[in-house]
Amino acid sequence: MRILVRTDAGDAAECAAGLIAERLARDPKTVLGLATGGTMEEVYRRLIVRHRAGTCRFAEATSFNLDEYVGLGAEHPCSYWRYMREHLFDHVDLAAERAHLPRGDAADPQAEAERYEAAIVAAGDIGLQLLGLGPNGHIGFNEPSSSLASLTRVKTLARSTREANARFFARAEDVPRLAITMGIGTILRAREVVLVAIGPGKAEAAARMIEGAVSASCPASVLQFHRHCTVVLDRAAAEGLALRDYYEDIHPGGC
Ligand code: F6R
Repeated sequence: MRILVRTDAGDAAECAAGLIAERLARDPKTVLGLATGGTMEEVYRRLIVRHRAGTCRFAEATSFNLDEYVGLGAEHPCSYWRYMREHLFDHVDLAAERAHLPRGDAADPQAEAERYEAAIVAAGDIGLQLLGLGPNGHIGFNEPSSSLASLTRVKTLARSTREANARFFARAEDVPRLAITMGIGTILRAREVVLVAIGPGKAEAAARMIEGAVSASCPASVLQFHRHCTVVLDRAAAEGLALRDYYEDIHPGGC
């Protein structure tokens, strides 16, 4: 794992946006794995700035989002489709027919999950996977106890995840209980992973992911097995790292 500790949240987002832009410059046909949530909003803002400056093009890229809530159609204001349109898709030149999310309102969510997994395989798997980190160590919606070999499927959200995501809904009880999520096995097939975690609320999960035992009780810890994984943290999220000095010696300033 390459651990980059940046000064603050904005700096961490800029670093992640830079890694994505570099990848797209090297391989414009990259298959991107995308995430949603609070952390990504700033990453996408920085990508849009680069796109407007002419330094980041998505025209030949394909994307697959990690997850979608079961029961929410694309036009639902809290769906991840709407999130992606608002925070990225409506502002860059990614072709609509190559931007994929699971269909949350599919009549048979498990069949939709299997279709989505097959579509990722057919696209040649993910080239660069962007991830956030749940305070409980989840990646995508692979909650603690998820199989480390899992594929895209329907998962029940942990109560703490529903509470954390309640801020995006009008009422806490509106947060769906189920989501379709890429599996951990799906994520591990990505050729490159960039995980971003910011703020003190992620410090414990970040320490378990980077320095703890590989365990389904902290799904992100499986990234220790990935050959090309970069973790971008701000100082607050790096607070619990025992080997922080070492990471900062290797990558001064998180570069
Ligand atoms: C979102 C996703 C989640 C989030 C994670 C962190 O598509 O898959 O794993 O990345 O819950 O969310 P924030 O950034 O809101 O703290």
